[in-house]
Amino acid sequence: MTTSDRTAGGVRVRNLSKQFTSPTGEPLRVLDGVDIDVRPGEFVSIVGPSGCGKTTLLRIVQGLDEADSGEVLVDGQAPGDVATGFVFQRAALFPWRTVERNVSFGLDLRVLRSTANHPATRAGRRKRVADLLALTNLTDFADYYPTQISGGMQQRVNLARALAIQPSVLLMDEPFSALDAQTREKLQRDLQRVVAETRTTTLFITHDIREAVFQADRVFVMAARPGRFVEVFDIDEPHPRTAEFQQSDRLAETAREIWGLLHAKPAALTSTS
Ligand SMILES: Nc1ncnc2c1ncn2[C@@H]1O[C@H](COP(=O)(O)OP(=O)(O)O)[C@@H](O)[C@H]1O
Ligand SMILES: [Mg+2]
Repeated sequence: MTTSDRTAGGVRVRNLSKQFTSPTGEPLRVLDGVDIDVRPGEFVSIVGPSGCGKTTLLRIVQGLDEADSGEVLVDGQAPGDVATGFVFQRAALFPWRTVERNVSFGLDLRVLRSTANHPATRAGRRKRVADLLALTNLTDFADYYPTQISGGMQQRVNLARALAIQPSVLLMDEPFSALDAQTREKLQRDLQRVVAETRTTTLFITHDIREAVFQADRVFVMAARPGRFVEVFDIDEPHPRTAEFQQSDRLAETAREIWGLLHAKPAALTSTS
C-alpha cells in the first residue's frame, strides 16, 4: 500500500465538538474534543453510557449532522462525499420490494442515475446481489417480502443492502439490540463472516459490551457530558471470530474490565483522558 492511500477506507476525526440546544434553551455540549482514527479494514466498536453522543458521532461521520468544529475525513474526503453503508436498530426495509430487490436498491439507484443500463451493468448488479444474498444466507429467501421473514433475517437483508454499494465505511448503530439473545449471537457471528470476507471498515455502536469485544479490533470507551473517548482496548484475536471466542473467558474478562470502567466514578474516567 502506498503512503497516499493510507487513509483509503479509513476514518479520521480530530478535535471534534458538537453542541445542541436543550428544550429549555440551554446549550448542551454533546461532543468535546473527540479524536479517533479508524484504519482501513479495521473493525472498531464504541461503547458508552446512554446519551454520551455515540449516535451523534456516527451521524457526523455519515454526513447527516455537521460538527461545530474539528475535522472529519472518511476515506480521505468530507463526510457526505463518500459512500457509507449504515445499519441501524430498525431495518427500515421497503415492504413492497422483495428481499433481493431490497438488497439491490442502492445499485438500482446508481443505474438510474447513470446512462449505463446496458446488459453488462445489469449482469454485474445481479451477480453482486446474488453474492451478498449467499454471504448473508438469504439466497433461499430472495423472493420473500420483509413481512414474511424474521427480525434477524430482516437485519441480514439490511446488512446486505448496506454493503451492496461497496461503501468505504460501514456504520452500525445498535443493529442487533431489538433481537432476542440467541438471534443476536447468531447475527454477531454472521457479521464476523461478512466483514472478514468483504474487509469493510466498520464503526459499530453497541450497548452490549460482550458484543463490542466479540466484533472489534479495538473497543473505544466513551464517557458522557461531554462525550469523549476515555480508553481504548485492543482485542488481539483473528477474524472471523468464532463461537468459541464468543464463550471464552478472555472475552468475558475484557468485557468485565470495560464494564468496570463504564461504572467507575466520574473521577476515574477523567483521569485517563
Ligand atoms: N437534534 C438534537 N437536538 C437536541 N439535542 C440532541 C439532538 N440530538 C441528540 N441530542 C442530545 O445529545 C445527547 C447525545 O445523544 P446521542 O448522540 O443520541 O447519544 P447516544 O447515542 O450515545 O445515546 C443526548 O443528550 C441527546 O438528548
Ligand atoms: Mg444512540
